[in-house]
Amino acid sequence: TPRIVVLVSGEGSNLEAILDAVRDGRLQARVAAVISNRPEANALRRAAGHGIAGEALDHRAYVSREAFDEALARAIDAHRPELVVLAGFMRILTPAFVNHYLGRMLNIHPSLLPAYPGLHTHARALADGAERHGASVHFVTAELDGGPVVLQGWVPIRTGDTPENLASRVLEVEHCLYPLAIGWFVAGRLRLDGKRATLDGIPLERPWQL
Ligand code: GAR
Repeated sequence: TPRIVVLVSGEGSNLEAILDAVRDGRLQARVAAVISNRPEANALRRAAGHGIAGEALDHRAYVSREAFDEALARAIDAHRPELVVLAGFMRILTPAFVNHYLGRMLNIHPSLLPAYPGLHTHARALADGAERHGASVHFVTAELDGGPVVLQGWVPIRTGDTPENLASRVLEVEHCLYPLAIGWFVAGRLRLDGKRATLDGIPLERPWQL
């Protein structure tokens, strides 16, 4: 069974969606490790609830971003994963770290990329008066939230929406998207080929839409 390592920082609802999919047989993978840069993250409790002893690697204990990323890579590689999954991992990664996992690291981002890379995506979509918002799964490359998008799902924005209720509507989509995209990867169907993602060998000119 392909092994994945999930990196988290916070609530861990995407982690839970992945663990549920594995448990129910909808995702043929094994979560070999869950690693959080925040020891207090609820995601670690969720991992424990699924019988996984999460690991905490506190970034504040390291002198530099490079030193933290080197320690993180050692912790990940000890598990020999086929895929590294960023699930609400709220750290900017060094180029060396990104290159080490190039083509074998996915992220989920709460916007319809290329719209709204970075933070506060829900508030920004509302401030712009956007009609649609959503989430994207992409390969991680050196460009922040700029790697090839493989899968997106959208939700309508309704009058009276707040960043909070929009975020929870988008999270429901995320929980469908991520197990699906991870499943493609571990089945060998999804690859990073140069600057493009391919699914079943066919370049994804546009992201797959759920
Ligand atoms: C999710 O909305 C995820 O897309 C986002 O953080 C949330 C984590 O929720 N990630 C980013 O913003 C990455 N820059 P979770 O901890 O409940 O999965």
